[in-house]
Amino acid sequence: MQAMDIDCLTDMVLQRCDVLAQCSEEPGRLTRTFLCPAMRQVHELLREWMCDARLAVRVDAMGNVIGRKAGVGSTVFAVGSHVDTVPNAGKYDGILGVMLGIAAAEALAARSFRRTLDVIAFSEEEGVRFCWPYLGSRAVCGSLDAELLTRVDSDGVTVTQAIGDFGLDPTQIATCVYPASQLVGYLEAHIEQGPVLESLNGSLGIVTSIIGQSRYWLRFGGHAGHAGAQPMELRRDALASAAEFVTHVETIAKLTAGLRATVGSLIVEPGATNVVPGMVQLSLDVRHEHDHVRRQVVQRLLTNARTMSKSRYIDVSIEPTLDEAAVPCDAALSRRLATAVSETGVHPHSLVSGAGHDAVVMATRCPVAMLFLRSPGGISHHPDETVRRDDVRAALATMIRFLEIELDQE
Ligand code: HGY
Ligand code: MN
Ligand code: MN
Repeated sequence: MQAMDIDCLTDMVLQRCDVLAQCSEEPGRLTRTFLCPAMRQVHELLREWMCDARLAVRVDAMGNVIGRKAGVGSTVFAVGSHVDTVPNAGKYDGILGVMLGIAAAEALAARSFRRTLDVIAFSEEEGVRFCWPYLGSRAVCGSLDAELLTRVDSDGVTVTQAIGDFGLDPTQIATCVYPASQLVGYLEAHIEQGPVLESLNGSLGIVTSIIGQSRYWLRFGGHAGHAGAQPMELRRDALASAAEFVTHVETIAKLTAGLRATVGSLIVEPGATNVVPGMVQLSLDVRHEHDHVRRQVVQRLLTNARTMSKSRYIDVSIEPTLDEAAVPCDAALSRRLATAVSETGVHPHSLVSGAGHDAVVMATRCPVAMLFLRSPGGISHHPDETVRRDDVRAALATMIRFLEIELDQE
């Protein structure tokens, strides 16, 4: 591989991330949720770029865009990540891994291998539109249950309807699943989204495990009242109760080593200046490398939510939306990935992923490995998210090196 090519491909990866950052469902900021209208533009560009890399392109019933480089054997090695975003996102979370996968395929286009290479652009990982993550990779791994398809978004549209509205056929979802044992491995390149690699002055990292996470909706039910006429001691203020819980979550998290707990979404009803809030809905996201620690803290927080609100005559209802165990990356695959990193002249740091990734779901079907790129400033899920060109170049060189070996295994 000529060094000049790797530089052209690196610049192409970064330019394409810039182009895709324009595909948004909101003016002035990057938000791209599951099968939103802006995803049509993304599909067109992915199809074009995958064809340029001489990949055969298909879109499955869940809206995953898959580029295939056929091998002579019967097994498939996949690389990829997700193309949806959080609201007001940065332009590299998810997308960078797909662009790197397409560029690596382009670099290897003239070669033939035993294994087939699939570059997968997963349609949904963040769980923003339907408050349930990993719809794309769950479809590929056969872990979508029927109830999930009936979930509705804020407009009352179900997952099934969203698939149909996009022009796909929800009755064909079962065809998204890879046949058992066909998938022999999955590599996901992704920005770290935290400060660890930068603190080590590291370019690339090998993920040892992806932390487990629990997500809940909590609803605090009080009683709306007049902000002026209602005396303080006679109120059932849902927001005051929720606020006490939010700071309690932070206090407990700070006292528990390695724990991360976040209340990221809070809805106040009726939401008027002169009305005592009658109802608050808030999200709870709790993560830890060790599942027993996470589950202990979750139980403590949920119990305290109820006891703290009782003294305020507030009812609390709790809806679990995710309970995901920590997932170890495959040791042998990760060792081979670390060797590829070293062979490109970069030191392969090891670290735990605090973010969830499609690799969590893919690990239910095959060995997975993850390659992290440094996140300058540790910034992510924010428009200031960025990457360094030299890290992108190193990641691409690593992936090409890694795939040259992996695709020629039995
Ligand atoms: O929430 C996460 O960890 C990921 O960004 N979906
Ligand atoms: Mn994300
Ligand atoms: Mn991501």
